[in-house]
Amino acid sequence: MTNQHSSGYDRTPVSVIGLGPMGAALAAAFLDHGHPTTVWNRSPQKADDLVAKGAHRASTVIEAVSAGPMIIVCVKDYETMHEILGAAGDTLNGRVLVNLNSGTPSQARAAVGWATERGAGYLDGAIMVPPPLVGHPGSVFLYSGSPGVFDQHRQTLASVGDPRYLGSDPSLAVLYNAALLDMMYATMNGFLHATALVGSANVSAVEFAEHALGWFMPTVVDSVLAEQAPELDKGNYPGDLGTLEMNLNALEHITQASVEQGVHSDQPRLMKEIAERAITDGYGGKNYLAVFEIFKQATREPPT
Ligand SMILES: NC(=O)c1ccc[n+]([C@@H]2O[C@H](COP(=O)([O-])OP(=O)(O)OC[C@H]3O[C@@H](n4cnc5c(N)ncnc54)[C@H](OP(=O)(O)O)[C@@H]3O)[C@@H](O)[C@H]2O)c1
Repeated sequence: MTNQHSSGYDRTPVSVIGLGPMGAALAAAFLDHGHPTTVWNRSPQKADDLVAKGAHRASTVIEAVSAGPMIIVCVKDYETMHEILGAAGDTLNGRVLVNLNSGTPSQARAAVGWATERGAGYLDGAIMVPPPLVGHPGSVFLYSGSPGVFDQHRQTLASVGDPRYLGSDPSLAVLYNAALLDMMYATMNGFLHATALVGSANVSAVEFAEHALGWFMPTVVDSVLAEQAPELDKGNYPGDLGTLEMNLNALEHITQASVEQGVHSDQPRLMKEIAERAITDGYGGKNYLAVFEIFKQATREPPT
């Protein structure tokens, strides 16, 4: 079931189900790396360019699943995957399903049971790059689930990017995905709000970025986030160099400055409320990172 590539490696046949921007990029990368590639998409015309490059267009889901040992699914979500593969009958038996849709941890856990009932190996994955970066060696792809399935197919998965295995809990890939995107959106919003704040005094984004990014990397990323991660694991937040009470003062000033300058103030206000919650819980004399204790808990209604 493999194809000898000019590199000397055997190339496992791969079936790619779903040819949106991401699925099409995955199929193109498999083709570029010499994998015999079968494709299926609800709207079949999206396979035209891939067929021109050498892909085989399956006319049914069963034909796509039957074409080889490994099926990559990259559609809108888990519900769509179940809907599509419901038509595969028992053809999944003995094959490996790699699911690269976005979703939630409970959906990933349920998908393992679903695949196991059909006799298929299962790996859950998360793609941490946009379609143009698929196929580049440094592009991060996260996987979780069966270590045996991952080890067996690591080389094939490396055709689309750098495969990183997170552990046997199948929900880890989508959980990391949510966590990394959480960090990305929060950081982007921080920069955008800050740029709007100085923009209220006619400072351009370019001018601000020069100061802000040069300050942020060494002062926040390197000396707080990277250095303090072990202290988060220990729950150790000494307040000798600055307390949460002192930081609340800063958050109040950011909120008030936003109001005064006529820019949106919900984002700093929410950060202020989280710090206030931590102080109510007794962390006022600790350093700012003690808000981690609040983030570890489910959201509580404010006291009435
Ligand atoms: N694009 C990115 O930058 C990116 C990055 C990381 C992860 N992802 C993830 O990759 C997955 C695919 O993303 P995408 O960008 O390719 O586009 P998408 O819009 O999320 O998914 C498009 C694919 O889903 C199929 N689909 C949607 N509803 C369907 C249905 N009811 N029945 C059958 N097929 C259906 C589409 O088929 P038709 O072509 O027939 O509509 C197409 O193949 C998503 O889970 C996304 O979150 C995307």
